[in-house]
Amino acid sequence: MEPNSDQSPLVTPSAVCHFLSIVCLGWYAIHWFIQLVGAFTARRRYRSPRPRSPSSSEPPESVPGVSILRPLKGLDTNLFENLESTFHQEYPNFEIIFSVANEYDQALPVVQALLEKYPHSGARVIVGEEVVGVNPKVNNLIRPYREAKHDILWVLDSNITVSPGALARAVDILTTTPKSGKEIALVHHVPFATVDAHTLGAKVEGAFLNTTHAKMYIALNALALDSCVMGKSNLYHRSDVDRLDGSLKPHPADFTSSSTERGLKVFGKYMAEDNIIASGIWHELGLRHDLSYDIAYNAIGDMSLKDYILRRVRWIRVRKHMVLSATILEPWTESVALGAVTALSVHSLFGTSYSLFLACHFFAWILVDLDVYRSLAGHFPQRGFRTSFFIAWAIRESLTFPIWLYAVVGSQVTWRGKKYRMLRNGEVVPVKPSAVSGLDSILTWLGIRSRKSIDQYEPLPISHS
Ligand SMILES: *[C@@H]1O[C@H](CO)[C@@H](O)[C@H](O)[C@H]1NC(C)=O
Ligand SMILES: *[C@@H]1O[C@H](CO)[C@@H](O)[C@H](O)[C@H]1NC(C)=O
Repeated sequence: MEPNSDQSPLVTPSAVCHFLSIVCLGWYAIHWFIQLVGAFTARRRYRSPRPRSPSSSEPPESVPGVSILRPLKGLDTNLFENLESTFHQEYPNFEIIFSVANEYDQALPVVQALLEKYPHSGARVIVGEEVVGVNPKVNNLIRPYREAKHDILWVLDSNITVSPGALARAVDILTTTPKSGKEIALVHHVPFATVDAHTLGAKVEGAFLNTTHAKMYIALNALALDSCVMGKSNLYHRSDVDRLDGSLKPHPADFTSSSTERGLKVFGKYMAEDNIIASGIWHELGLRHDLSYDIAYNAIGDMSLKDYILRRVRWIRVRKHMVLSATILEPWTESVALGAVTALSVHSLFGTSYSLFLACHFFAWILVDLDVYRSLAGHFPQRGFRTSFFIAWAIRESLTFPIWLYAVVGSQVTWRGKKYRMLRNGEVVPVKPSAVSGLDSILTWLGIRSRKSIDQYEPLPISHS
């Protein structure tokens, strides 16, 4: 039979185009919904005065004790003030443990000065790491984790300052079972940039933390579809972490009988231990997280633009090996790439002009970002600082797509001066200086060069003691 020449085939380029445009518009709407959830949650949670917790003024024996762990390495920006904020917690029952990997660490004199300033605080410092894997923060935490007096641990990065009521409010959330839903086993704080460093990289990182990062962090935690935690400031029970084996799979009922390794040491082989611990609490134990009313004020050091870029590349590469789908979606949650494809779609569906659409798009986008900024900072970017903020914001937005492209084609990351390679499950292995270059990884990715055999990597320095 002759094919009917009048009938066009079902799948034409224009039909595909039409379909993709509709998908794109759908995703655009979903993303706006997520952003607005972030902005409204930020308004609700951070604009009203924070409630003072009744436990602040109770006798020590009637509240659960907390061990505050502060793993330190070197002289971070604002170190003295950051660490001092832990001494000012309005909570009747806590201890502070600082830890450094060795006696030569530059953070030690700062800690000594604090111990002299607060001689009755009972704070102490543990010198000497215990190597369980490649992650220096985990190695540095092993001893304080074991020696802590209390079951509730508050792990705080060295570059974080917190307000005096933060601990009491976080314990309240951790120890109250919500009326509806699952038990809360981890309380964290949204990071926000403070301390104006004068380098471009620090401004860009600050603009990122103060807008998009806060917006998405708050939104994803409000929607609570999955674990989304950064380890800047986390409160959890040691007894929960002791049950984790890093599998991220629900435990069978008789899990205690198995001989798998459990507890903090399991996480020494990951670069993003904070993420994986939080994910373990969620998936292995079936418990949930909550963001507290307080903010983890992050003092940003003098990073260059290159430091900023390498830092983003590192986190995209870490995430790529943990949640591939989220990494593929990532550029389509950013103003530039999402705006560009939606402008094409809207033009092809409705004939709207590109410039009109993009003008509205960026205007609305920055309004939401400023709204989130205002909720967390208590004010808009101040006079005299606005121009530099908007420039930093624009640089951050325009860099997202090129950074993402560069990041997805490689697996190697530079972390505190050493090179590592990410493995499929989020583990990292150190790379010998001569092994894989950036060009190699692009060629490998394109299939032009085969993967290097694993024995080119140094063995993991793991001690089984
Ligand atoms: C803050 O400190 C942590 C380790 O304590 C480090 O990994 C991170 O890069 C620092 N962040 C900034 C913005 O300086
Ligand atoms: C972020 O917000 C804080 C609080 O207002 C402010 O001090 C800091 O300068 C802001 N940083 C940037 C880069 O916007």
